[in-house]
Amino acid sequence: MKTIWCLGSINIDLFYDVPHIPAPGETLAATGHSEGLGGKGANQSVAAAKAGAPVHHIGAIGANSAWVIERLESFGVDTTHIAHSTDPTGHAIINVASDGENAIVILPGANRSLAEDGITAALSNAQPGDLLLLQNETNLQPETAQKASEIGMRVLYSAAPFDAEAVRAVLPHIDMLLLNEVEAQQLEKALEQSLYELPIKHIVITLGPNGARWISTQSGDTIDTPGIKVDAVDTTGAGDTFAGYLAAALSRDFTPSEAMAFAGRAAALKVTKKGTADAIPTLAEVEAFDP
Ligand code: RIB
Repeated sequence: MKTIWCLGSINIDLFYDVPHIPAPGETLAATGHSEGLGGKGANQSVAAAKAGAPVHHIGAIGANSAWVIERLESFGVDTTHIAHSTDPTGHAIINVASDGENAIVILPGANRSLAEDGITAALSNAQPGDLLLLQNETNLQPETAQKASEIGMRVLYSAAPFDAEAVRAVLPHIDMLLLNEVEAQQLEKALEQSLYELPIKHIVITLGPNGARWISTQSGDTIDTPGIKVDAVDTTGAGDTFAGYLAAALSRDFTPSEAMAFAGRAAALKVTKKGTADAIPTLAEVEAFDP
């Protein structure tokens, strides 16, 4: 089994249960509140670790957040390469509506204070064939992707939160691009190119309740994984769960269709629970899930 390295955000997630996503200018009373570990990067690390892969997280936190490290470690994530920053730990305000939809505001804080020497030191332990996971909530994404690609690692980039320029910057160094349907349309519009023409070997588009599609751009082959019907209570972190489980499956040499089905089951289970890292299903839960 290969090791997974994840350069990614670590956030304190502040959840507010709301009857609907607030409109501009509207003040809403939340009906519930909770707090937990999150951040697209941390969620992906936790998902991959829960799926059974060896995972090293590369990131940064601010002062007074030791519980965040303890939480990551409790899920089996190696935290050796998490730096301590003078910036505050990142946090996210997450409104979750009664239909399970969400709206998120993040304060990047320490997530954008990563130093290149820390990343170089971390990746000096990586091996060819290991996987690097990246998302768009830290600094130094293209630099890290380039280093990993030079080592011979497989680089998987989740284009979230979406920024076409951030995607453009990592494109030369990545093996797989992960997008949701909206992000896929935004990227085609911004680059004025079909996804099939992009210089990346593999693109995975998650389609929410409709499953996911794997596109191998060189052959034009596609693999579709059907959606799984569940009662959704919170879609937050479903994409991260999919990405982490997909990476873990690839690290264990699953075929693309097996990996997609495995990740799809994990993401479907996630949306049945409120929360982010804590709500990501365990391997035992995913294996026992028979939709
Ligand atoms: O994808 C969900 C994540 O987005 C949350 O955990 C939040 O922290 C934001 O990064």
